[in-house]
Amino acid sequence: MKIAVIGAGSSYTPELIEGVLKAPLPIEEVWLVDLPEGRERVETIAGLSVRMARKAGRNVRFVTTENRPEAIEGAAFVLNQFRVGLLRMRELDERLPLRHGVVGQETTGPGGFANAMRTIPVVREIAEEVERRAPSAWLLNFTNPAGLVTQALLDLGHHRAVGLCNIPRITERMVAAGAGVPQEAVRITVFGLNHLTGTRISIGGEDVTEQVLRMGAAEAELRKAAPEAKPPGDFFPSLGFFPNPYLNYFFFPRATYRHALEAALSPEGTRAQRVQAIEAALFARYRQEDLDEKPPELQQRGGAFYSEVAIDAMVALSGDVPRSLVLNVENNGAIPELPAHAVVERNALVDRTGIRPVPCEEPMPHLLDAVVQAVKEYEFLTVQAALEGSRKKAREALLAHPLVPGAEAAQGLLDDLAAANAEFWPTLR
Ligand code: G6P
Repeated sequence: MKIAVIGAGSSYTPELIEGVLKAPLPIEEVWLVDLPEGRERVETIAGLSVRMARKAGRNVRFVTTENRPEAIEGAAFVLNQFRVGLLRMRELDERLPLRHGVVGQETTGPGGFANAMRTIPVVREIAEEVERRAPSAWLLNFTNPAGLVTQALLDLGHHRAVGLCNIPRITERMVAAGAGVPQEAVRITVFGLNHLTGTRISIGGEDVTEQVLRMGAAEAELRKAAPEAKPPGDFFPSLGFFPNPYLNYFFFPRATYRHALEAALSPEGTRAQRVQAIEAALFARYRQEDLDEKPPELQQRGGAFYSEVAIDAMVALSGDVPRSLVLNVENNGAIPELPAHAVVERNALVDRTGIRPVPCEEPMPHLLDAVVQAVKEYEFLTVQAALEGSRKKAREALLAHPLVPGAEAAQGLLDDLAAANAEFWPTLR
């Protein structure tokens, strides 16, 4: 089995390789693709991968290349984890919206919009290459904003694509650790959009969502994004679902904005700048010839367990016995409040015949539904803006986003973001 990793110069890749080496799959070749700018990094990753494979006693061939179509040729799985414009552009996604009074974030709000507009044109090329060179491959997308990018793939007619996220896995593990039970005992039911989900949690068949909310886990997430926020006393316990941490940007827009602004003005800078410092140290470590495993320092990045999610998806999509996973898939009626063609984050049954989202048994809570509906419309408009190169749709997308305060802000944001992204965005007309 051949797999192709696009954006393999990422500092996350050793985590993926760790998963590949443990996977119960006959993986023989891993093609590590990156642009010329990423050559040194990808060679470093390949060197470490060879040492990791030797240690694990696995015979896997690692091939580095800048030739993406060649890497895709005949692959069983193509994994997107690239970042268009690298962390330099992520920093602008995190900074420019602050000038307009809106939080800057790489997946949420105008920052996520700028990122999507850079990414969708590239994803379109990749989908075409996969259709031509590996028509039976599944395209697994981690590239952010992951749900929106998967929506673009499906809207383009590329149906063997699925979006992946590590947050459902983090939630499961957090609950298992807190309750002192094995991870298999925890069941999560997820509904919404990527980075915008509600989750219900049960252990041994008993719904423990409210107990988990009372334990303060959701509030602890809020503290990370907005230490000064003052949620009303019963806010989290009364929600009725465990909130995705990214919902905090919608529920606490002023406090999260203030915190992002403070970070941007501090000597450490935005998350992108911090990640650059973490990456410099990580790559120095990866170059050490005696390193033959994923180093613990990688935990400083936010993508923990993404390899588990990727490998579980590959195993399920190769198998005959349906497995239950949380994925970003075409809704097809599973969440009745959303259109059939909307990409949603939802539990799904997965096997070699495909992915079937599990129909919800209860309506989506109104509060979550309100945010999800608005953001889904923003996502549809963003995909259209990117694919059609439409300035009008781009402005409407920003105006539809619940964090953007009105038409003047939407226009100002669009002008600033378009100027900063001229090298990457499609030409808007
Ligand atoms: C979480 C999110 C990812 C995001 C990451 C950021 O894992 O689910 O979508 O990319 O955090 O981590 P970073 O270390 O890049 O800030």
